[in-house]
Amino acid sequence: MSTVLKVENIEKYYGNKGNLTKAVDNISFQVEKGEYIGIMGASGSGKTTLLNCISTIDTVTSGHIYIGEKDITEMNSKKLSRFRREELGFIFQDFNLLDTLTAFENIALALTILKVPAGEINSRIKVVAERLGITNVLNKYPYEISGGEKQRVASARAIVTNPSLILADEPTGALDSKSSRMLLESFAKLNEEFHATILMVTHDAFTASYCKRILFIKDGKIFNEIIKGKDSRKEFFNKIIEVVTLLGGDNSNVL
Ligand SMILES: Nc1ncnc2c1ncn2[C@@H]1O[C@H](COP(=O)(O)OP(=O)(O)O)[C@@H](O)[C@H]1O
Ligand SMILES: [Mg+2]
Repeated sequence: MSTVLKVENIEKYYGNKGNLTKAVDNISFQVEKGEYIGIMGASGSGKTTLLNCISTIDTVTSGHIYIGEKDITEMNSKKLSRFRREELGFIFQDFNLLDTLTAFENIALALTILKVPAGEINSRIKVVAERLGITNVLNKYPYEISGGEKQRVASARAIVTNPSLILADEPTGALDSKSSRMLLESFAKLNEEFHATILMVTHDAFTASYCKRILFIKDGKIFNEIIKGKDSRKEFFNKIIEVVTLLGGDNSNVL
């Protein structure tokens, strides 16, 4: 197995001496190719900060993050923006699709930027769209399709470039339960059929139960880790709930 992501003793502080928030407080872990890993924790525990540091949107206060062989904490901004386009796929809570482009054009843009030949763009989008069940909405604009379909278009955009790592921050956060389920089935397909490596942040136990491994974060630190192994999704869900209860705090925040 090859290591896709290695996070080494990272810290991210906000504010200054008198008023310091340790949003990420000495976190280390690694992710192997083909893993589907979840990051859970209550609101304010540091999940988004951690994800933003990995996705190169934010910079760490100290520590190192390796994606493949490259230490992204040592890269200059020009290299980073190229690296981001070529190696990472993003899926956000609010979809981030461009309103003036059709679903097809939104997905194609990710390939055009990478200078993929026009002849190849069609066939690559066709394969991914079929897997995600969005073939029939490709010619529609974002305002013409449902939230669930938008998120599957965003997922197609994230996977079509064959990134080494897909990063998702609360991808089901704006979806109803049926659309969430469909999206999570799609992620499972991307993971199993395209061998996509996925790192997903969520505070929702149902969403997390689709992952194969979960790291729990509390006050910027790793609190616990559980692995799905041979458990059914339901059994894994129950284990997640147990850890969430152990984590304490306001459960309504976590579930
Ligand atoms: N840009 C920022 N400036 C100051 N504090 C921040 C900033 N972003 C996040 N924080 C603080 O860092 C902590 C972790 O936030 P965040 O990573 O957004 O948590 P989560 O995604 O788990 O809800 C919180 O206490 C939050 O208030
Ligand atoms: Mg967050």
